[in-house]
Amino acid sequence: MGRTTLVTGIAELTTNAAGPGTRDGDPTGLVADAAVLLDGDRVAWAGPEREARDGVGHALGGRPPDATVDAGGRAALPGFVDPHTHLVFAGDRAGEFEARMAGTPYAAGGIRTTVAATRAASDDALRAGLARHVAQALAQGTTTIETKSGYGLTVEDEARAVRIAREVTDEVTFLGAHVVPPEAAGRADEYVDLVCGDMLAACAPHARWVDAFCETGAFTPDQTRRVLEAGAAAGLGVRVHASQLGPGDGVRLAVELDAASVDHCTYLAPADVEALAGSWDGAAGPGGAVEPGRAVGPGGAVGRGGAVGRGGAVGPVAGRRGTVATLLPGVEFSTRQPYPDARRLLDAGVVLALASDCNPGSSYTSSMPLCVALAVREMRMTVAEAVWAATAGGALALRRDDVGLLAPGARADLVLLDAPSRVHLAYRPGVPLVAAVWQSGVRVPPTPAP
Ligand code: NIG
Ligand code: FE
Repeated sequence: MGRTTLVTGIAELTTNAAGPGTRDGDPTGLVADAAVLLDGDRVAWAGPEREARDGVGHALGGRPPDATVDAGGRAALPGFVDPHTHLVFAGDRAGEFEARMAGTPYAAGGIRTTVAATRAASDDALRAGLARHVAQALAQGTTTIETKSGYGLTVEDEARAVRIAREVTDEVTFLGAHVVPPEAAGRADEYVDLVCGDMLAACAPHARWVDAFCETGAFTPDQTRRVLEAGAAAGLGVRVHASQLGPGDGVRLAVELDAASVDHCTYLAPADVEALAGSWDGAAGPGGAVEPGRAVGPGGAVGRGGAVGRGGAVGPVAGRRGTVATLLPGVEFSTRQPYPDARRLLDAGVVLALASDCNPGSSYTSSMPLCVALAVREMRMTVAEAVWAATAGGALALRRDDVGLLAPGARADLVLLDAPSRVHLAYRPGVPLVAAVWQSGVRVPPTPAP
């Protein structure tokens, strides 16, 4: 048993789990007038405050908690799970953004500008930038973050990126297939050989996932398939960038290859939507709150400590589950493209996550509250759907069952809002509403000054 903290006075608690005080059929497991007990790095109890005496007494064997924090009528929710960022990079592309706002369209080729800056940067400069971005995300409530390589594109530079990324998160993705680098221009298939060969061998030990950008201007579906199959054969879980700039075969390929997530999904054909929805047949999605330690997919009994163990050891991605569509509204905001049709996806039964896609080109924001606000305002998600997608949805996109929810056994990742309800995340866009964050039971200090 670790240090125990009881948080009381929560006007509205989003648990994303069935438990005391929740309503049947509410996937967000909302509890009014709630309390949460944190025990070391885990949640020990969550429920209505009027039941806390019994719940906490039972959880602590009659001992009082070590500390009590009064939330003072604020809303609380699980820490955000951001399952898609690109934070190992140097430089920025503010000029490209400015030109875009004046009418120049976004193109995948801009990635090469960041590749040049990243290759030229020292390890320490990359580390410092990464730490700064992760701290900014954490201050905005992101307690679990995935991040990718993809701005190195040589064996050494990609291996360096995943190694540095692994210093800050277990959720590291090898994205050697981001674009064809300039020195391999016109020789994409040869570059894919390198990605599937020496580059993968150098990166796989530091990564949990393999990803590829399946899009005109990046990689074809055949090239994408080769990369993802090679990554899977090396023990990595699969995720895909697809249908960001136009329609294509990437979404169906992702489902076929049992990707945990296919990201962007801005231009979808009916067959894509059908494939995404079908991948969840019989599995727990928004209609079925996921509890820690429970199987969350067909034939996929993935207990706690299965995918990512208590001590943070990253194991292989296990168990057949569905493919999440991860929507990245920061991209559409920042590239002036049409937003993906979240309503159509939800109505078809597709499981959605929201992510920031924080990167210097297409979406230079790490703010999950902004993503929630955009999803509600621009993509017609309800507040409940958007908050679920930014927490539990992100966890499913990473095939994690220990984060994205507040229930006994889950990781003690808690966000307190300076607001009485989660609605304020969309209602008050741009306002710093994250009042306090606990990550693995530790209260996070405010972002340090540079
Ligand atoms: O997810 N789509 C590919 N990769 C990034 C963009 C990276 C960049 O423009 O630097 C994305 O949007
Ligand atoms: Fe991306």
